[in-house]
Amino acid sequence: MTTRASTTVAPAAPPVTQPELKRAGPCTLVIFGAGDLLHRKLMPSLFHLMMDGLLHDEFAVITVARESMDDRSFRAKVVDALRTFLPDHAHFDPRAGERFAERLGYIAGELDDSATYTALRERLAETDARLPGESGRLFYLAIPPSLYQGTIIHLSESGVAPRVPDPGQRPWVRIIIEKPFGHSLGSAGALNACVRRAFAEHQVYRIDHYLGKETVQNLLVFRFANSIFEPVCNRQHVMHVQITVAESVGVEHRARYYEEAGVVRDMFQNHLLQLLSLVAMEPPVTFNADAVRDEKVKVLKAIRPVTPAVMHDYAVRGQYGPGTIDGKTVPGYRDEPGVAPDSGTSTYCAIRFMIDNWRWHDVPFYLRSGKRMPRRVSEIAIQFRKPPHVMFPLPEGEVIEANTLAIRVQPQEGISLRFEVKVPGVDVKMASVDMDFSYAEAFGGLEHDAYETLLLDCMLGEATLFTRSDEVETAWAVVDPMIDYWANKRPDHFPNYAAGTWGPSVADEFIAREGAAWRQP
Ligand code: BG6
Repeated sequence: MTTRASTTVAPAAPPVTQPELKRAGPCTLVIFGAGDLLHRKLMPSLFHLMMDGLLHDEFAVITVARESMDDRSFRAKVVDALRTFLPDHAHFDPRAGERFAERLGYIAGELDDSATYTALRERLAETDARLPGESGRLFYLAIPPSLYQGTIIHLSESGVAPRVPDPGQRPWVRIIIEKPFGHSLGSAGALNACVRRAFAEHQVYRIDHYLGKETVQNLLVFRFANSIFEPVCNRQHVMHVQITVAESVGVEHRARYYEEAGVVRDMFQNHLLQLLSLVAMEPPVTFNADAVRDEKVKVLKAIRPVTPAVMHDYAVRGQYGPGTIDGKTVPGYRDEPGVAPDSGTSTYCAIRFMIDNWRWHDVPFYLRSGKRMPRRVSEIAIQFRKPPHVMFPLPEGEVIEANTLAIRVQPQEGISLRFEVKVPGVDVKMASVDMDFSYAEAFGGLEHDAYETLLLDCMLGEATLFTRSDEVETAWAVVDPMIDYWANKRPDHFPNYAAGTWGPSVADEFIAREGAAWRQP
């Protein structure tokens, strides 16, 4: 059916009393590294948390990095970054910026030099003295992954970040480790072993920023706080699931990292497999970190292994060539600064995952992600089976459309359900319409960055939105064989899609062989 119409779901009236907002207790946050992540994400998020009254009045942030700088110049740099990177920077209040900056300290030092940790210990003693009661210590590794192990060992051996065996023990000590967590199953295992020697698992927060996105958290609420969707989310009713994470940006200034990583390590091992596990998991008994993560791990473990012999039926890869996005000509991947002119790195991949359990047996999950696609869009689409028998007369060549539930992760966050209706008139003609929920219409938009949620959760000791050691390793076990297979086969067909298109034609052929087609969200 071709006609489209849309009908908006009016939001139910908001509850009269909102539950009390969570607020962090006293703590000092130590951030290692003063690069892009700190300026673009962490500082703006902390500033917002302060403005929303969610940080303790005496919170302190100490940054440790190589560049030689004193507190004053570091603070000025951060205020500049806030002016540029705050999503609402047009309304930036300089006095609030100053108030925030007063809470910041800076230590210049090499991360492999024990003198740095001595200086840090002294600085922490000063902030501890200012903070009331038993304050916590949160360490954030915003540094290149090659420095993780060394820094963890120094933190532990210097006594700055001691192991706290009991989760209820105070003062608490926690560590946040950024992605990528390892480069393969082996290296993730080695990193986990190093982490385990220094800390108890409850002290460790492995970040996947997708889990902090409001729409991703909503997946759990949508699935398990409604009774009408869950009974149809299974092999009896679902034809297939498509998960798309498309980006219009290219590799930007990260060629050194990306040449080594490629799209499967960069996006599939973490963000896409997280989305898949949230869509496919069984309902946990309670909303607690281990109950939720146990169910996610079960899904990852149920993913059918892809062996070299069947690789062709399960995955295709691509690399962008020059093209046009939003009317602008953009270079191909191999022409980006820092990329080898004959690079074999994939910037696009599509994989079919099969989940071998009762709920999802024989239901393909098609996952795809690519850089330099026509627009930035992340979406999860659940396509239901068509009616088994159509009693209505259809014009020659027309088929009835399947119902689709599309969850828009970003942008235009929301959820829509497509179904068939009768077009008004004397004939029985049908058309597909969308019932649409939009966050912007219902709640005026999404104001919080994922990092705000994640930083606050760490301070509160809430680990549901962080990946556990077994989860991260199981995800590596899923993608490792594919990465290894491709590492041994140099692609002689790259580049195979033009920037500004929806990926290589092999991806269309791949899904067409299955009797399906990619959505164009
Ligand atoms: C990061 C990847 O984890 O996620 C980047 O390393 C990617 O390559 C980014 O661009 C996408 O995040 P978001 O939130 O913009 O979808």
